[in-house]
This record gives sequence, C-alpha cells and structure tokens, in this order.
Amino acid sequence: MGGLSDRFGRIARDLRISLTTACSLRCTYCMPAEGLPVIPRDELLSASEVARLVGIAVHRLGLTEVRFTGGEPLTRGDLVEVVRRSAEAAPGIPLALTTNGIGLDRRAAALVDAGLTRVNVSLDTIDREHFAALSRRDRLPAVLAGIDAALAAGLTPVKVNAVLMRETLDDAPELLAWALDRDVRLRFIEQMPLDADGVWTVDAMVPAQELLDVLGTRFALEPAGRDDPGAPAELWRVDGGPGTVGVIASMTRSFCAACDRTRVTAEGTVRSCLFADDETDLRGLLRSGGSDDELEAAWRRAMWGKPRGHGVDDPGYRRPVRTMGAIGG
Ligand code: 5AD
Ligand code: SF4
Repeated sequence: MGGLSDRFGRIARDLRISLTTACSLRCTYCMPAEGLPVIPRDELLSASEVARLVGIAVHRLGLTEVRFTGGEPLTRGDLVEVVRRSAEAAPGIPLALTTNGIGLDRRAAALVDAGLTRVNVSLDTIDREHFAALSRRDRLPAVLAGIDAALAAGLTPVKVNAVLMRETLDDAPELLAWALDRDVRLRFIEQMPLDADGVWTVDAMVPAQELLDVLGTRFALEPAGRDDPGAPAELWRVDGGPGTVGVIASMTRSFCAACDRTRVTAEGTVRSCLFADDETDLRGLLRSGGSDDELEAAWRRAMWGKPRGHGVDDPGYRRPVRTMGAIGG
C-alpha cells in the first residue's frame, strides 16, 4: 500500500473529517453572526458513511490518525455512533475530537466508551466577558465544564487551542497560568484568513512573536522543540518546566511544506488543503454503490492536486470560498 501522496512529495497521515457546519458559538474568526446555512440532514455524511471512509483512509491510504471536526461535532446527535463505528472500522487508530467543549460534560464518558482517545478544545480566553464578545455567546462556564469532563474521562492529554486575536492578547498569560494549573496543553494559533466576515488582514493579525513577548512579561520561556519533527506547534518550556506552551505560526512561519493532512467536509468532499477550493465528491460515489477501489482512487486523485502552500503572500492570492466553520479546523 503506497501512502497518500501529492505532487510535492508530502504524504498525508492525518485525516480531519468534518461532521457538521452547525455550531453553538459564533467565533468572529470563524463564523458569521447568523451562523452558516443549515445543511439538510441527508446531505451530511451518515455515521456509517463516515466509518466507511475512515476504514478506507486507514486500510488503503495509510492514514494513522483521525480527527472529527466541524462546525461543532457535539451538535450531532449521533456523534457517539460516529465514533463507535469509526473505531470498529479502524481498530487501534487514535480518534480525536476538535470541539468547543459545550455539551462535552454530558457525553465525555460515552465517547470514551465508543473509542474516542483525545480531544482538542478551542478556548481563546478565560475572561468571561472577552469570551462572550469573541464567540458572540456567553458560554464560558459550559466550555470549562466540558474541559473538566474530558480530564475526568481520561481523554488526556487534553489540548486547548487558542486563536491569537488582538482583543484577547492581554489575556494570554492568565490563560497559560490556568492551563498549567490544570495540566492542559495550551497551544496558540495565528489567525488564518478563513473568517466568514472576510475582515482578516495581515496587519490586524497577531504574529506569534508578539504573543511570546506578552507571555515573556510573566513567564520565562525556553525553546523545547516540537512533539515530532513535522508537528506544527513549536513548544516552549515554561518557568523551567515541566509545563509547556505551543505556538502554531501558521501564517508567519508556515508549515505547508510538512503538511500531512487530508480533509473531508461534512458533505463528503475531499479537500486537499484548507486554502484549496477544488474539492472531490466522495458522497456521490458512496451513495451510487462505488467500490472501495473507486473511492480510494478518487481520494488519491484529489490529494495529487494539493497545492504547495496557502499562497497568502502570492500576488494572485484569493481567499477561499469556504470559511473555517465550513471546512473543519
Ligand atoms: N484561524 C486559525 N484558527 C482557526 N480556527 C477557527 N477559525 C480559525 C482561523 N480563522 C480554529 C479554532 C479551532 C479549530 C477548529 O480551528 O479555534 O481550534
Ligand atoms: Fe464554532 Fe469552533 Fe467556529 Fe468557534 S471556531 S464558531 S467554536 S466551529
């Protein structure tokens, strides 16, 4: 079995599969205030369709990690079923969830029982008012309850992703202190131009270096490498350790050359890159009796077309049509 490669020699190992574009929050860097158009239920991949794709990805394309994303995967009533069937289709493969944490308190134990192994919770600040302004919903307590539930259910290490925004930059040290206290692995991510309102500009973006300067006012940071050589997060040891903080400089130090991701949208199209609007429909093949061979071939063709990088600095750059909530983080 050959790996899932592209023209530039990268091999995809990490599958991100979106389960919905619905969400309980409206983070400004991701969603429009009114939310995304609702996708009719029968246009979303079903639990068994997701599991079939997971099986093909693992057994035929050599993927070694699967992550469910959205939108907010916890808004899907059948999430436990999706996880259970996927775990059956690909035993032993790590199954992770990217979530805002809302509702995780009620479902963490069932998800673990179904085969979920890890969660990444998105949380940009622990200042309640700033959280409500950025996510347009006053739900910080629910998110924190979700994180506590993930820890209690053994979904460890729990990772927390924070998008770097001007409005919450000064909250970063407090967020890090909170994360260290709970043994949660915090990673900051530079904002990418995938917001629904289209207001991202390179000047408004907070560069990783600025975050490091702010954190440096309260903590001593030493470089601590990466989890593995291709991992996007650069780690910094905090105050001598053992705690670390990660920084994902997706814009100022792009890691496109080492990207090992392949994405499937909630409607069942393969997306080779966050920034590439060219998509390949797998749902049609699934529903018209396509064989595993045909699905594998279509997926391989889709990834062969993966662009070299996000191209945000290129003269001809145009922002992608889909926004983050419609792709899956
Ligand atoms: N830039 C960077 N990260 C983003 N996310 C959502 N929108 C953006 C953006 N414009 C992150 C969320 C979450 C994951 C789904 O992607 O914070 O961690
Ligand atoms: Fe919802 Fe996550 Fe997008 Fe925020 S970033 S609106 S939590 S999908």
